[in-house]
Amino acid sequence: MTSIKKSGKLQPSEHVVFLCNKKTSLTSTGLTEKEIAFAKTQLDKNEKQNVVINQFNRVVIIQTAESKKQKYLTNENWRKAGANLVGGCNEFKISQITIVDLLNDAEITLAFSEGLALGNYQFLRYKNKPEKEINSLKTILVNSKKVKDKDLEQLQILEEAVSKTRTLVNEPVSFLNAVQLSKEFEKMGKEAGFKVEVLHKAKIEALKMGGLLAVNKGSIDPPTFTIMEWKPQRAKNKKPIVLVGKGVVYDTGGLSLKPTANSMDLMKCDMAGSAAVAGIMYAIAKAKLPVHVIALAPATDNRPGENAYAPGDIITMMSGLTVEMLNSDAEGRMILADALHYAKRYEPELVMEFSTLTGAAMAAIGSFGIVAMGTAEDAVKNKLKQSGNNVYERLAEFPFWEEYDDLIKSDIAEIKNIGGPYGGSITAGKFLARFTDYPFMHFDIAGPAFLTTKDTWRGKGGTGVGVRLLFDYLKRK
Ligand code: BES
Ligand code: MN
Ligand code: ZN
Repeated sequence: MTSIKKSGKLQPSEHVVFLCNKKTSLTSTGLTEKEIAFAKTQLDKNEKQNVVINQFNRVVIIQTAESKKQKYLTNENWRKAGANLVGGCNEFKISQITIVDLLNDAEITLAFSEGLALGNYQFLRYKNKPEKEINSLKTILVNSKKVKDKDLEQLQILEEAVSKTRTLVNEPVSFLNAVQLSKEFEKMGKEAGFKVEVLHKAKIEALKMGGLLAVNKGSIDPPTFTIMEWKPQRAKNKKPIVLVGKGVVYDTGGLSLKPTANSMDLMKCDMAGSAAVAGIMYAIAKAKLPVHVIALAPATDNRPGENAYAPGDIITMMSGLTVEMLNSDAEGRMILADALHYAKRYEPELVMEFSTLTGAAMAAIGSFGIVAMGTAEDAVKNKLKQSGNNVYERLAEFPFWEEYDDLIKSDIAEIKNIGGPYGGSITAGKFLARFTDYPFMHFDIAGPAFLTTKDTWRGKGGTGVGVRLLFDYLKRK
């Protein structure tokens, strides 16, 4: 974890990065006239975004980033610039760096700090010699007239929450089975101060969670169903907001087995939705946001064990609805359906569900955003899209037309768990909506949850997508 703090008076010997544009006066930087002239020409002629001046007792970096017409795009450029600095810190073995805001711009300073902190994340638990690879940067000090203490505190909390989420996603099923996942959620609850209750198999059976139990049939590890709650004294909302996250700790596809290359080998990430909702709970509880939020995480692995559920099976879900299961690889919707039904008891104001649900979502928009759809009103959707832009976890809204409902009708049960060959993300979302009676948003994070190539502050592997999105949304509520 990178520590983010407010800086005191700038000391002449500390490593420092000055945030500026080409017009910013550099006289206050303590650089000599020659150094300033050098920096200016470098920035001008090389089209470089930063200049590094090694003064031997310290490193000074003059940092710029390209401005865009829309502020959130400019902010994202600064976030990326922050992430790019991780390599520079390693090169000079910098463990503490001070960010000086010569632009007097809180958003830019926060974005740059965030990019640097998130870009500094590493998952080294299984390295024999982690010290050989660990990034040098430990502390970021922020020097800005515009950034508020509270913003820095929230940034630190968010960075921790995202790191924890990413680590859960990066953990393989050899460690992180459903029971272990629920234990990790309990730890997060203790640390951040939210309530966690874990339902084990006997209780799941007593509740008749038919979808979760069906998917679990091929597994030798029991399922879990975790209920997390943050209920502050003076919550702004009367009715709770409920989050639901897919916790498939490993998805082999079940009897409808996945091929390995680039599909099954990535499927430890199939619990990213549940990790994200736990990460959101962690962040809002630590930041003590005045919103009442409940999160539900159904969890199991999906395997072709001897007693695995078989295509053609008819499953009675917790809601009583019957489902003809025609593809055991469409397991996410089976376990989420029971959680969505369970959510009705809270009479929620809004339910937001996160899942690595369909390859079709990734096929449609790649990993550059979240596929979103649902029945919530436009005002809610617009606010969510706004948050998506703010934190650069953008939403692409898909249609939710009623014609899609026909595609999941079953001949012999009420519905089936696959649609036709087209619109696969939407038919999956439509399946879920059959278990809701409240305003509902479905976020398919199959694309952005886990990256196989490195991408600036999102890194490689688990990204923690969804945590920053919802923190921003709930903070504005
Ligand atoms: N977990 C997968 C979806 C997925 C794919 C997540 C790629 C992350 C990256 C999901 O359970 C799945 O297998 N979906 C099937 C549904 C189909 C059988 C209707 C899919 O998308 O192929
Ligand atoms: Mn699957
Ligand atoms: Zn899955």
